Amino acid sequence: MKEKPFTIKHVLDIASLSPDQITYILDTAESFKEISTRSIKKVPTLRGKTVINLFFEPSTRTRASFEIAAKRLSADTLSISASTSSVVKGETLIDTARNLEAMQPDVIVLRHSLSGAPHLLSRHVRASVINAGDGAHEHPTQALLDLLTVREKKGKIKGLKLAIMGDITHSRVAHSNILGFTKMGANVVVSGPATMIPPYIEKLGAKVTLSIKEAVQGADVIMALRIQLERQNKLSFPSIREYATYFGLNTQHLALAASDAIVMHPGPINRGVEISPELADGPHSVILDQVTNGVAVRMALLYLLLGSETRMSHGDTKKDENNPPSPPFSKGGNPLSPPLEKGDTGGFSGKSQ
Ligand code: CP
Repeated sequence: MKEKPFTIKHVLDIASLSPDQITYILDTAESFKEISTRSIKKVPTLRGKTVINLFFEPSTRTRASFEIAAKRLSADTLSISASTSSVVKGETLIDTARNLEAMQPDVIVLRHSLSGAPHLLSRHVRASVINAGDGAHEHPTQALLDLLTVREKKGKIKGLKLAIMGDITHSRVAHSNILGFTKMGANVVVSGPATMIPPYIEKLGAKVTLSIKEAVQGADVIMALRIQLERQNKLSFPSIREYATYFGLNTQHLALAASDAIVMHPGPINRGVEISPELADGPHSVILDQVTNGVAVRMALLYLLLGSETRMSHGDTKKDENNPPSPPFSKGGNPLSPPLEKGDTGGFSGKSQ
């Protein structure tokens, strides 16, 4: 009996993804990485498709990598900032999206300051919606690229100790990563100022400690978070200087972690505040690897969302500068494989291959 196809229409949060779906996305992303190492970094997979990046908050990494991911798959892309759109004239999110949809995009990537904005949008448009960060709620594609980076560097996720440090309350990255890493079998510990750790966090599956030293002790992965000043009416701590002194991560903390621990940060970094430059730029840092993996994860998601209709039409899987990479998938499960026979799911089962 054929397995159920991978049928995700939107990527709104990690909460609604199963471990099998996450593994499938990571496997697909891994297979896309090779394209970005070629001299001609482009395959025709999404030719004729249109991706709109609709960003109501600033972004460097997420916006650029969605745009690069779409371009490397030959999709047409358009990036819109709220500050230079008719939003400043009073147009609502839904009206903006419906007007953009009148131009027939296939995917809308949305970043918004309000939690739940992508979920709302997904109920009003025909296009697929990807959450590129909604308020303090979730940042699912960041968690997926973090999971890919850890799996790549450590060879596994299950059983690892991940310490997430800093402003947990306001961090959509923390929320998505707690959900994602616990689903994949990691032990997640969070630490930071008591005023920045919400009471519900243990319900998401993380252990809480107010001792930074206890959190990093034996950790395989240390993840620092930016203080989200833009989401606070007033500081949750006396001063930035005091925060850096008591909660900033440095090489002394790294010395308590596993000898092969990796140091992560979603960016942007406040150097010398939540992380010291020595740690951010040191040999244990994988911060720029996270950024590289962000392109592969977003290529995989664009591909998977656009589904079977995006299968390559030229039917040639030979590896060269004009064609996609060799698949890690079993027959029919390659996301870049030729068109499928009617009724064939192409291995889009949501199961790891
Ligand atoms: N990590 C992240 O979301 O960075 P940007 O805000 O620059 O997109």
